[in-house]
Amino acid sequence: MATGSGFGKAILFGEHFVVYGNASIASGISKKTEVILVEGTEPGFKIIDKRPAAEGYIEKYAEAQRESVELMNKAVWHLDFDKTPVEVTIAGDLYCASGVGASAASCVAMARAVSEHFDLNLSEEEINKCGLEGDKAYAGTPSGIDNTCSTYGGLIFFRKNLDGGENQMDQLTLGKPLNILLVSTGITTKTKLAVDGVRERKEQDPEEYEIVFEEAEKVVIQAKDALAEGNLIKVGQLMDENHELLQEIRVSHPELDHLVDLTRDNDALGAKMTGGGMGGYMIALFADAETQEEAARVCESEGYKVIRARIGN
Ligand code: MEV
Repeated sequence: MATGSGFGKAILFGEHFVVYGNASIASGISKKTEVILVEGTEPGFKIIDKRPAAEGYIEKYAEAQRESVELMNKAVWHLDFDKTPVEVTIAGDLYCASGVGASAASCVAMARAVSEHFDLNLSEEEINKCGLEGDKAYAGTPSGIDNTCSTYGGLIFFRKNLDGGENQMDQLTLGKPLNILLVSTGITTKTKLAVDGVRERKEQDPEEYEIVFEEAEKVVIQAKDALAEGNLIKVGQLMDENHELLQEIRVSHPELDHLVDLTRDNDALGAKMTGGGMGGYMIALFADAETQEEAARVCESEGYKVIRARIGN
């Protein structure tokens, strides 16, 4: 038997813009996807998916998940599962919905288990590469931020190298820990759809989009300093600004906007959608664990799934 795991993630700043080389800030969260791999009884790579998930999520992504295995195998593993079959059970405490890196976490967890079972001795870099390759099945042209968080965890400043070279990935230190809530709209939307939509609109209106992209870059650079200084009020304001920019590129959703308003009305210092958007999760920042808990209960009383997370110690 072999095992593997991958962290969920929360993008604090810069999703979508990051695909085009803009700066971004994201963190691994303690919720994980975990895999148990055993020898299979029938030829092939059998997946049994037991992850907790939003309604329809597992079914919607089943095909992409199979494709992710093929992509990882082609790029890194080079195995013949008809000759050496495996059965993979996927579970863990990461509640899967769009926006928390569930797809990358599933790829990274599978890659770790395959590496252990077949004695591939994959390095962390190679595991991360598997995450990127596999995530292509879900996101089309992923920036690499999701698999990086999923592999290494921690809080990072990330910038994709558009020339195919090494991405910038700096570990960030926080002036103060962050008490955050991740709240799921319950709506599952394919990341690729959201990313493709941005690309189309950007091509139709390059000047307008360039202005928004420049603003987004400024927000992330300011956020990096505010996080280091522990200036949570400023971090919150910048999250609000980031949400507006994401609304401008039309990847938010009325349900996300509702949750952003709801958490702000319940003492969030700032709130925004997180990840691909058009559904999925939003993220809100709180001054302390008490206000975080009160807002979590309000969201839960309205029937939303909530992840309570603390970034930094
Ligand atoms: C998805 O979690 C984040 C996006 O920026 C896509 C990507 O970076 O690959 C929307």
